[in-house]
Amino acid sequence: MKPVTGLIEGMKVEGLKSRTFCRAKAFIFKKNRNFDGKRNIMTTLSEFIHGLPKAELHLHIEGTLEPELLFQLAERNHIQLKYPSVEALKKAYKFSNLQEFLDLYYEGANVLIEEQDFYDLTWDYLEKCKEQNVVHTEIFFDPQTHTERGILFATVINGINRALQDGREKLGISSKLIMCFLRHLDEASAFQTLDEALDYKDLIVAVGLDSSEKGNPPGKFERVFAKAREEGFLTVAHAGEEGPASFVKDAVDLLKIIRIDHGIAAIQDEFLLAELAQKQIPLTVCPLSNLELRAVDQLENHPLKKLMDHGLLVTVNSDDPAYFGGYVNENYLASAEALGLSKADLCQLAKNSVIASLLSEPEKEHHINAIQQYCSENA
Ligand code: HPA
Ligand code: ZN
Repeated sequence: MKPVTGLIEGMKVEGLKSRTFCRAKAFIFKKNRNFDGKRNIMTTLSEFIHGLPKAELHLHIEGTLEPELLFQLAERNHIQLKYPSVEALKKAYKFSNLQEFLDLYYEGANVLIEEQDFYDLTWDYLEKCKEQNVVHTEIFFDPQTHTERGILFATVINGINRALQDGREKLGISSKLIMCFLRHLDEASAFQTLDEALDYKDLIVAVGLDSSEKGNPPGKFERVFAKAREEGFLTVAHAGEEGPASFVKDAVDLLKIIRIDHGIAAIQDEFLLAELAQKQIPLTVCPLSNLELRAVDQLENHPLKKLMDHGLLVTVNSDDPAYFGGYVNENYLASAEALGLSKADLCQLAKNSVIASLLSEPEKEHHINAIQQYCSENA
């Protein structure tokens, strides 16, 4: 087993002027303070979003590790963190690109050691879902983030699955599990991970592809994804987050994905847009993540609404909420404010989240009816 390392002391904290923890949160806060009329509208919209039943389809469970839990787990597992406090760690959560975030995200995951740690992580997220009216969630996990440092695949998946089971029974939240390959690692490592997943086919519904996009095109994993499909897994992939529109096209053509994660670069290619719209291939878009990782300079310039207007099946999701300052409702609200989304747009996004999910048709119908009823009563 590789030694466990804590977060590096002072990294990106010392010597830096304290910046707002989350630009998006500050954005919402500022808007709320404007003047009375504005505050009332915001409250109404916020309440409307809160009550809207919705599904989340793009969520990395390791990205829900809140600094407070990170510190608790570090203590429980006798891991020395170099950050002196939760506040100091939070101050380090400012990123210029995907890689800067990933470096901290993988380092944070080092506190996850025991099955119970994975349970606690997942349970905390499910409680958040309950609070936010997320009725169904499809969760990514990255086994290689843990097996690479000597944690057993079984430890990871059993902890997550036990919490998901409790989530169904105690909170009434349905869920699916999607196993992601880390694209910065090689094909052999992905094949080995797929092999380990075969014992858990009943728990894993699809495989995905995440981590550093630049320099790691979808084609690198064409054979792994072909084998995964042969074994009965559905496929999804991150593409067009930092990478070009051609990666989105490659994910469709080479990996035969049923959903694109992010996919915002598709806005640069009108032929691709037409294909995604025609085939109704869903995009799981994560606005606050795109803002925090500088894929967009400001939310007002996010292509979410344009993608909807092109007829794409777009959904709104939180990606790594503990790092990007907002869960799914904050993503809906910040997007609505920045892009002027109407209640009808928000209802469409919630319906899209169910349509694009891996639920059965009767389950989808049930949730869509509930959304429709809510939207009619609260128009
Ligand atoms: N992009 C790519 N890989 C990831 C992300 C992301 O936003 N979050 C966790 N792994
Ligand atoms: Zn992601």
